[in-house]
Amino acid sequence: MKFFVDTADVEAIAELNALGMVDGVTTNPSLIMKSGRDILEVTKEICGIVAGPVSAETVALDADGMIAEGRKLAEIAPNITVKVPLTWDGLKACKVLSGDGHMVNVTLCFSANQALLAAKAGATFISPFVGRLDDINIDGMDLIGDIRTIYDNYDFNTQILAASIRTVNHVTQAALIGADVMTAPPEVIRKLADHPLTDKGLDAFMKDWAKTGQKIL
Ligand code: G3P
Repeated sequence: MKFFVDTADVEAIAELNALGMVDGVTTNPSLIMKSGRDILEVTKEICGIVAGPVSAETVALDADGMIAEGRKLAEIAPNITVKVPLTWDGLKACKVLSGDGHMVNVTLCFSANQALLAAKAGATFISPFVGRLDDINIDGMDLIGDIRTIYDNYDFNTQILAASIRTVNHVTQAALIGADVMTAPPEVIRKLADHPLTDKGLDAFMKDWAKTGQKIL
């Protein structure tokens, strides 16, 4: 499973990228707002750090506006993925932008039928929002599983990008189901390394090591 980092925080991206943990980046208008940076500047900086796909989201609500914005965003770097919302206009924009040869991420997906439409419109990635479904008491992982089944039934090439990932368990479940990609905030990716038995075991090793009086260096 590929790891995308869901942030426009350049320092966090650079730190995780140096560890080989970043296969791509996803941003959205809320994350750009949180960064306090200009969208074109910060996205260019991110594209200079990460070789994989970097999603930059359009904000127009009509297809023509999304297409124009998408083409402008795509000029930032060759690894830009244009992100459009899963509306009828977003699907129109997806068809045109993917026809131009751009990678397209169709976002704000909350149903299997929406995912089916995005695949037919030529999306490179579909972004089902797991955490936001969990928020309304619908199991977001069921949607990931349904999309996996449908895409496999018909050999769609659109990659399932499990988004709105909030917990380490979301990551495990998405990997078990076979999501192609998951995108999570940096803190969730860091938490994947945590285990209390690792901490406990390390503590015991350090205590025993101190008793030996030895040094390696
Ligand atoms: O990947 C989409 C993500 O940014 C939304 O996450 O936690 O706001 O639902 P969240």
